[in-house]
Amino acid sequence: MSTPSTDAADLPAIHPDQDVLDLDGPPAAGAGTSSLGPTGRPLPDFPTPGPVLTRGPAAVLAMCNQKGGVGKTTTTINLGAALAEYGRRVLLVDFDPQGALSVGLGFNPAQFDRTVYDLLLERDVPPQEAVLHTAIERLDLLPSNIDLSGAEVELVMEVGREQTLRRALAPLLTDYDVVLLDCQPSLGLLTINALAAADGVVIPLECEYFALRGVALLTNTMEKVRARINPRLELIGVLPTMYDARTLHGREVLKTLVDGFGDKVFHTVINRTVRFPETTVAGEPITTYAPMSAGAEAYRQLAREVLATALADPVGS
Ligand SMILES: Nc1ncnc2c1ncn2[C@@H]1O[C@H](COP(=O)(O)OP(=O)(O)OP(=O)(O)O)[C@@H](O)[C@H]1O
Ligand SMILES: [Mg+2]
Repeated sequence: MSTPSTDAADLPAIHPDQDVLDLDGPPAAGAGTSSLGPTGRPLPDFPTPGPVLTRGPAAVLAMCNQKGGVGKTTTTINLGAALAEYGRRVLLVDFDPQGALSVGLGFNPAQFDRTVYDLLLERDVPPQEAVLHTAIERLDLLPSNIDLSGAEVELVMEVGREQTLRRALAPLLTDYDVVLLDCQPSLGLLTINALAAADGVVIPLECEYFALRGVALLTNTMEKVRARINPRLELIGVLPTMYDARTLHGREVLKTLVDGFGDKVFHTVINRTVRFPETTVAGEPITTYAPMSAGAEAYRQLAREVLATALADPVGS
């Protein structure tokens, strides 16, 4: 048997070689069969959001974790799409030169006329010129491609280099209710720019053994940005991603997250499912690709949780 020893006792229904588990469908045992949520705390009933009554400048949330492949881009796309479903006007900002967010929404990064890079480096470009409408109503994209990798070097010479994104986004904020920033997996100058422009940070964390490695560095960086550049910055929440309720390992990691971050762990947990990689290929959010799937519903719940807690949004009747 090659099954990892920590998980062996908990995997009777899963082939040991299966490394991608599709948890779509009925909830797994221990994942929501009682009023306790998967994080072991009572699951609040997050209400359906009501219409937006007053439009102010958008709340800016950064999806941030310098660890790669933890679900930042997936969360940006699907949280954004779910917020748009609930009537919010949403701008997604691809702030990673890999352009995965742009690809995940069905665009070809090689064909963009204007990108975030132009807004950062060419002060006279109206930011609206770079915004693209996606196939989803109320969901727009500020795209990016490999050009952005040059910005990190070029910005070093600029005065107020940490505030460049914030300045570039400012004229767009009144057009939206929420702006989501998809950060690259590093704590370099681009990510500092995202933290300087953000009101809040969402940290997606893969429910894996090494997930917590480096998180202290991220929270310390957030502290420094808050102290020196952006006093508004707050941790909105830690989002457990790629969770597999059927493994002891997954449940242990989730418990460690709750022990460490307490109330800052979202009640919403994103299960591991092959549906997410499929959506990248399809170039659309899971909320339209597989609207009835558990993954789509999880991101809708996250949208309701974010609206109810972080954004203090009006509640539907
Ligand atoms: N809940 C999930 N279940 C299964 N696969 C997932 C899940 N969330 C994301 N993935 C897949 O994992 C991979 C990494 O996800 P994603 O690109 O969102 O991470 P990231 O943090 O943005 O990565 P990077 O640091 O490289 O930007 C992708 O192939 C994505 O489809
Ligand atoms: Mg990404």
